[in-house]
Amino acid sequence: MKLLRRIWHEFDDRTGIASLWEWVGCHPVPPGTGWWYVFGSATLLAFIIQIVTGIALATMYVPSAAHAYNSLQYISHQALLGHFLRGLHYFGASAMVLLVGIHVMRVFLHGSYKYPRELNWLTGVVLLFLTLGMAFTGQLLRWDNVAVWSVIVGAEQAGRAPVLGKYIAHFILAGDTVGGATLTRFFAIHVFMIPAAIFAFLGAHLMLVLKHGISEPPVAGRPVDPKTYRKWYENLLEREGRPFWLDAAWRDAVFGVAMIVVLVILAVVVGAPHLAAPPDPTIMEAYPRPDWYFLWYFAVLALLPSSLETPVILFGPLLFGAILILVPIFGSKGERHPLRRPWAIGTVILIWVTIGTLCIEGERAPWSPDFNAQPLSTQVVGATSGPVYEGAILFHKKGCEFCHSIAGQGGHRGPDLTYVADRLTPAEMTIRIANGAQLMPAFGGILSSEQLNDLVSFLKTRKRPVPQGNNVQSNAVASTSH
Ligand code: HEC
Repeated sequence: MKLLRRIWHEFDDRTGIASLWEWVGCHPVPPGTGWWYVFGSATLLAFIIQIVTGIALATMYVPSAAHAYNSLQYISHQALLGHFLRGLHYFGASAMVLLVGIHVMRVFLHGSYKYPRELNWLTGVVLLFLTLGMAFTGQLLRWDNVAVWSVIVGAEQAGRAPVLGKYIAHFILAGDTVGGATLTRFFAIHVFMIPAAIFAFLGAHLMLVLKHGISEPPVAGRPVDPKTYRKWYENLLEREGRPFWLDAAWRDAVFGVAMIVVLVILAVVVGAPHLAAPPDPTIMEAYPRPDWYFLWYFAVLALLPSSLETPVILFGPLLFGAILILVPIFGSKGERHPLRRPWAIGTVILIWVTIGTLCIEGERAPWSPDFNAQPLSTQVVGATSGPVYEGAILFHKKGCEFCHSIAGQGGHRGPDLTYVADRLTPAEMTIRIANGAQLMPAFGGILSSEQLNDLVSFLKTRKRPVPQGNNVQSNAVASTSH
């Protein structure tokens, strides 16, 4: 016993571990911190679970385009505990995204970002984006059809940025298209780059939490005044402070254990997400649906009219980031209690309702090709024989209608073609159909030239009706002269 104490003494003398524990574990916290304060530590715990399961998965996963899919099949079906590990990593990711969201919301509602904790908030904003970055890059490592689709969308989004867009997209994809190099790059980003950044910012975040102390629960009518706050807070801790361990930490521990239990149950019962078909750009019947945490964002992309798409895609995240950065800069003083900041409650409700609605919309996935699209009705086509009619048949049979709608019929992945002839000349249509585009397959090798002509003959008729009728007539002439 004496020897043990001696060893401990010597160890502590060299490391200073006791005073570290004193500082970290026993620092005083203000009274009344309740269950609302557990989400930060729970996010941290989820991150630790991700590190452990991630490292375990990395011992079996092969980050190469040729083998990734098979190695995942191996992990899921053969490796010892592989299925469980994948499940835990997946649900751990979900938990981390969800918890970081709740944590941000709590801090926002309590006004905890106010003086002197502005930098806590700003490092937290970075951590929020890094977490989303992990979720996004992780999805591609699944390297199935769905994963590849979401990355194409992500790269397309980055590609819209002025000037730099091309280079960013090129960097993300490690080339001009999704390929083997893309996977290697995402692997490096997911496993080394973002985690390293998370460690750095997490370290800063936790240091700041210790330095400034946990914010006291807000009280209406007690605004933050930078001139007096520090003194007042120190007094509060002196008078009523409790040691973090165990007066506040027991809630973190209880919540953390409960979270682990739930995650383990989910990993065992529900298991890892099903692997879709291996990536194959020629297979149209992909079911491009991202994991739930990005469903709402994909819904935004899908639902926007195409004229708004670029500005929203480009400035939406920037604006969101800018607002988050401005929150503590302009709101560092004043009332903290949510009841004295009704707009804060309103903002949070608005955000959750919006995201919820978009998730439901995303679940219906209007952007994915609609494989149930029915043939266009005669009423819409306006012809019962001839090239226009044949073209309309092809429009359904060749799958154009999966992605394009006309007069309300068909999918919405591509632009609505109801009035396409107002925007494009027949030659432009031919080129587009034959060559495809970033999100549209090239049909040049699939259609005979006669079929292509028929399709264009049909699309040529898709004009906005002109009241005088001149245009309609010339249209009819044009299509019969074929
Ligand atoms: C997988 C979905 C998909 C399929 C299938 C598809 N398209 Fe497209 N199409 C798109 C997308 C997406 C665009 C927008 C191009 C872009 O993003 O650059 C587009 C663009 C077009 C355009 C240009 C529209 C404009 O307003 O600029 C035409 C015309 C067109 N497609 C015709 C067709 C025809 C005809 C077929 C069938 C032979 C077809 N598409 C099949 C997704 C698809």
